Amino acid sequence: MSLSKSIIFSAIQPSGQLTLGNYIGTISHWMHMQDIYHCIYSIADLHAITVNQNKKLFRKNIFDTLALYLAVGVNPKKSIIFLQSEVQEHCQLNWILNCHTHFGELMRMTQFKKKSKVNSSNINIGLFNYPILMAADILLYQSHKVLVGKDQMQHVELVRDIAKRLNFLYGHIVTVPEVYIPNINGAKIMALLNPNNKMSKSDNNINNVIFLLDNHESILKKITRSVTDSDNKIFYDIKNKPGISNLLNIYSSLTGISIAVLENMLMNTTYKHFKLLVAQSISEKLLQLQEQFYYFKNKKNYLRDILDFGACVAKKQAKKTMKKIYNVLGL
Ligand code: TYM
Repeated sequence: MSLSKSIIFSAIQPSGQLTLGNYIGTISHWMHMQDIYHCIYSIADLHAITVNQNKKLFRKNIFDTLALYLAVGVNPKKSIIFLQSEVQEHCQLNWILNCHTHFGELMRMTQFKKKSKVNSSNINIGLFNYPILMAADILLYQSHKVLVGKDQMQHVELVRDIAKRLNFLYGHIVTVPEVYIPNINGAKIMALLNPNNKMSKSDNNINNVIFLLDNHESILKKITRSVTDSDNKIFYDIKNKPGISNLLNIYSSLTGISIAVLENMLMNTTYKHFKLLVAQSISEKLLQLQEQFYYFKNKKNYLRDILDFGACVAKKQAKKTMKKIYNVLGL
């Protein structure tokens, strides 16, 4: 890695099919980042096992996630793409960071509180520890920026606190990363039937979620049925019109047209017609993506080679950071 470019880190957990939220919030920006930053894109499989996974389906989800990374234009010659579990240093650093994070800090994490409610029969320590493993992911690579959606901001804030604590105790040993949200309108895409909740891979109701591999009929059906309001006026008001505001966020993110311009353009448009426009814009993007996805999905050996190469390069950088940290700790 040359020192001229900053390092940006981003990751997705392969805990299910990727969603329109993942696309708009993160991976749709990854290709362009490659010309500006040293990009490190991980498949966070260790994060996904806080929930019990079916082995066969899990392997499929891991490789589908990789094929989607390639389909959005991530180039393995420009970016490091790797599977988290194949670089053992993540777990090694995780333990050290456990010893530098306070119980109270983790107790404040809203995602832990929410996930414990949903997953009340399996509130495991991994779920509690989840943001510390994220800290290990980010700090191992001395990342300057972390590209995430809004729901991950609190976790990255915690990572910053941990990094500052390490530097305070041991001198400058890790880079304090910044949160990077490329497009604020797309930073939190909401569930279609319940626009007060985030659109999520693990939603029990598939009608809340557009999956990246959905076909046009399914997209049209889900958008047509999405919950709005009854006043038939299209403008942005997240509090009183969360459904319409969510559709505006989606449409603006996919077309690149600002919300203010859209409000003007859509002044005399009915909700029915607006929903058609939104569904069309999603289908156009996703059909292109799916074509690329199926092309890469079938190249099994190529996908395996990318992960082998990525793990090898990532390991080199990870080992450097671990050596530094072991040294200051006297390990
Ligand atoms: P995951 O898989 O839940 O989400 C991956 C990324 O997608 C963003 N995202 C969304 N953005 C907009 N609208 C949505 N509805 C939406 N849903 C998800 C998330 O904010 C995230 O950026 N814990 C991470 C994965 C991870 C990670 C890391 C990220 C593991 N280690 C280190 C950054 C740095 C996660 O949320 O995965």
